[in-house]
Amino acid sequence: MLDLLKPKVYVTRLLPQVAMDKIQAFCDAKVWEGDLPPPRDMLLQNVVGVQGLLSLLTDKVDAELMDRAPNLKVVSNCAVGFDNVDVTEATKRQILVGNTPGVLTETTADFAFALMMAAARRVVEGDRVVRAGKWKTWGPMILLGQDIHNATLGIVGFGRIGIAVARRAKGFGMRILYTDIVRNKQAENELGLEYVTMERLLGESDFITIHTNLTPETHHLIGRKQFENMKPTAILVNTSRGPIVDNMALYDALRTGKIAYAALDVTEPEPIPVDHPLLTLENIVVVPHIASASVATRTKMALMAAENLIAGLKGEMPPNPVNPDVLKMKR
Ligand code: DGY
Repeated sequence: MLDLLKPKVYVTRLLPQVAMDKIQAFCDAKVWEGDLPPPRDMLLQNVVGVQGLLSLLTDKVDAELMDRAPNLKVVSNCAVGFDNVDVTEATKRQILVGNTPGVLTETTADFAFALMMAAARRVVEGDRVVRAGKWKTWGPMILLGQDIHNATLGIVGFGRIGIAVARRAKGFGMRILYTDIVRNKQAENELGLEYVTMERLLGESDFITIHTNLTPETHHLIGRKQFENMKPTAILVNTSRGPIVDNMALYDALRTGKIAYAALDVTEPEPIPVDHPLLTLENIVVVPHIASASVATRTKMALMAAENLIAGLKGEMPPNPVNPDVLKMKR
């Protein structure tokens, strides 16, 4: 197709080539090629006149942006989470929003487990000891951690990723508790889980792993009161969104021994400033939002985002719409 006839889109970062090829075959795509997200003014400037936007979770897609792009038909967010997109505003303007659910479930669950194990067995501290030349001998009391097998795992948020974590935990012989607004009796029967209140989960779990969406209701869901309720040996893992945990409350809980350890893939803000108090502690592992970062999964996410974008531009239902009612409204 001649570029002239193709719909104009803005892609806010280079994606795996297969996805770029797909987008460029159908769209006249302007691509932000920097390693860092486009600064706000560049983002606002580059959406002028576009019909499609392929955004990442680092791009704020709000009313101001939509004002700049009155022709916008579709926002395809290359992530399962879409708290960076004002979906209510998009729906009001009949702009379709797509996301990338499913393809990252197992990879993210693998990573939640990796963090759990890294924290429980003090893997990162061990590496620091070796690199600092402090490994002098095998010692019966050196870097003792906690067992994962047979421990109690509490899963906060029992969607696709929470369930995938439960399956892994089953293999480790863990007792599994979960809490969510929706009860999943099928998973309870299949995996032998217990549906409990948040309070019970916090009080009884050796490991607490968070898998909820970020919404106004889940903002700082884990704060001072919740840490008070946890075991002093508890390990907290967060691979969902940073603002679900109150960082300063976490800092105090880790510093004063209210809980033993934390492992975070996500922080508030991102990136976490290098002089943040949390990073002064030994009993925490922080990594840069990489739970879905396998070659295969990031490729699948990008392809899915490309498909959502193209379907939306054609006026068709994207394979993974967040606000499918937009198309119904148009009919
Ligand atoms: C998502 O998709 O929402 C993750 O946080 C990044 O893969």
